[in-house]
Amino acid sequence: MRTRLLDASRPADLDEAARLLRAGKLVAFPTETVYGLGALALDPLAVRGIYAAKGRPASNPLIVHVRGVAEARALSTAWPGEAQLLAESFWPGPLTLVLPRGAAVPDEVTAGGPTVALRVPSHPVARALLDRVGEPLAAPSANRAEHVSPTTAAHVGSDLDGRIDAIVDGGPCAVGIESTVLWLDPASASPPRLLRAGAIGRAKIEQALKTRIGTGPASHDAAVAASPGLHARHYAPAGLLRLVPEGRIEKTARALAQTGRRVGVLARTWAGVEDVPASFACLRLPEDPEGYARGFYAALRALEEQGCEAIAVEDIPATGEWEAVADRLRRASS
Ligand code: TXA
Ligand code: MG
Repeated sequence: MRTRLLDASRPADLDEAARLLRAGKLVAFPTETVYGLGALALDPLAVRGIYAAKGRPASNPLIVHVRGVAEARALSTAWPGEAQLLAESFWPGPLTLVLPRGAAVPDEVTAGGPTVALRVPSHPVARALLDRVGEPLAAPSANRAEHVSPTTAAHVGSDLDGRIDAIVDGGPCAVGIESTVLWLDPASASPPRLLRAGAIGRAKIEQALKTRIGTGPASHDAAVAASPGLHARHYAPAGLLRLVPEGRIEKTARALAQTGRRVGVLARTWAGVEDVPASFACLRLPEDPEGYARGFYAALRALEEQGCEAIAVEDIPATGEWEAVADRLRRASS
């Protein structure tokens, strides 16, 4: 199939994207986090198309994007107090809530599980599409399964050109890493649990709820344990990725090069960077966690495109505000 490139700044192109979506087609569009691959969430056939285009295992459920609390509530059988509080604090925005699924949600979206993941995106293009379509949209990150998430339309094209109906280009994503995924107890009997660290940090969520939250699926909950965002190797570039303590980047890069691989360097500070041989591809990301996250996936893709088979990544601080980036680095280097 030919993948059309649509321009988010043109209303006629947004109309066309909405028309395609309503017809059950696959359209990638920008959200504030990363580009999503959208399809009608309540149309099982459309949703199956997402899995086929991405090469995604059917066991990995999708996030459903809606316009607001009313639409979210319509897709779940429970709306605990925590959901209301978190929605008021963080929606629209990069927080995904996992709640008991409503009857309208197809098995294809939930991977057969008892819960549905819901989020209200803040990106104006995502919102314009939701408004025009008037229906919830399932949208995983618009990359081939197991590859790095896309933060530009070009990234989407390089993974999915010829496999989806259209890409809406709305420029680079501001956040750069995926939403935070939080499981909520429908009965409010136990605290929420962080299933995927993301754009909204644990501390902000705990502040809003005035309570500590858990991590990972509850051990008794086999269904939540199926959340494949937790699978080890998930956000991976093509090459080998090696985490290196600050100041050792140059030594490690040289050692990696001795194995005959083309080596890339992803730095965060200036320590030792000037000693990296000019023949190595070397990128440097900002030292603050938000700036780093914004450029992270694009940097991995850029090094990959330059043919790097091994990437030495300067390690990041072990503090809470780096939790989401640390999670992505751990997975990509495992
Ligand atoms: O920022 C984001 O969340 C982006 C944009 C496009 O919205 N979407 C995204 O989707 O990252 P995806 O499919 O790449 O990641 C969704 C994550 C996966 O880890 C999946 O396992 C988890 O959410 N998930 C989805 N439904 C779930 C459910 N019912 N229970 C537990 N985890 C779920
Ligand atoms: Mg993904």
